[in-house]
Amino acid sequence: MIARNDPCWCGSGKKWKKCHHPFLAPQDFKSLKAEYFKKYQIVLKTPEQIEGIRASGKLAATILKKVCAKAKEGVTTQELDDYAMELHKEAGAIPAPLGYGEPPFPKGICTSLNEVICHGIPNDQPLVNGDIMNIDVTSVLNGYYGDCSAMVTIGEISEEKQKVVDVSYECLMRAIKILKPGILVSDIGQVIEDYATSEGCSVVNQFVAHGVGIEFHEAPQIAHCYNTMDIPLAAGMTFTIEPMINAGVREGEIDLKDHWTARTLDGKPSSQWEHTLLITDDGYEILTLP
Ligand code: MF3
Ligand code: CO
Ligand code: CO
Repeated sequence: MIARNDPCWCGSGKKWKKCHHPFLAPQDFKSLKAEYFKKYQIVLKTPEQIEGIRASGKLAATILKKVCAKAKEGVTTQELDDYAMELHKEAGAIPAPLGYGEPPFPKGICTSLNEVICHGIPNDQPLVNGDIMNIDVTSVLNGYYGDCSAMVTIGEISEEKQKVVDVSYECLMRAIKILKPGILVSDIGQVIEDYATSEGCSVVNQFVAHGVGIEFHEAPQIAHCYNTMDIPLAAGMTFTIEPMINAGVREGEIDLKDHWTARTLDGKPSSQWEHTLLITDDGYEILTLP
């Protein structure tokens, strides 16, 4: 088997990865873009689109940071939603969740507390000591999407909750660190499930990460658990990584009344962190930093 640093089979004397390697060799961006769309429905972004997504990513991250700073005991998630709505308006942006999907998501952000895995709906319940909460912000600015989320902890939290918060953050960061052209989409789930299970946690497989940028949810879907998606990453891809990690079982169930709130089946805590990433020629860029 020829390895990436071996001389190319064509006799050029160049390394295989620099010559005829199907994904690592420098290729005409246009032809790679066409190939990725045809094969995988993945849109490789142009420099102009990347500029736009960079701006929406920065905005989403800035709003997320401000909303997280307001999450204190006694504050309601509705008040956090109001604040996020105001910050979007000020910036000339739109919160992507509002009216999204079926039934239409009723609020501007997701607030997922304790056993809620994701898609929690802001309401008038005040935060209490011991809560953990994921706040998920997706901003649309000039038509471009940036998607990120983070955990906040309220007062003294249990060891079990601290564990899922820390493990899920580490899962995200470990997955980000391996990103570069040529690695497979399945490598992401491999890194995440290896680490989460080594820490005694489980990985949600009911929800996935996703391409993002010119739409809210684009191809590819990216599982955070072991999988066999053998799509090589390519420069110009923009997507999220957003591992949902549970203290107990991986299974969840969606609320029968609101059709959004996803809770762990065993009621044990769940935690999630999310960034929007860009694949560059030699690695990655995190687009959702404030
Ligand atoms: N922001 C979430 C994600 O990371 C999606 C929320 S969908 C909504 O993909 F409708 F609940 F907003
Ligand atoms: Co997302
Ligand atoms: Co999100």
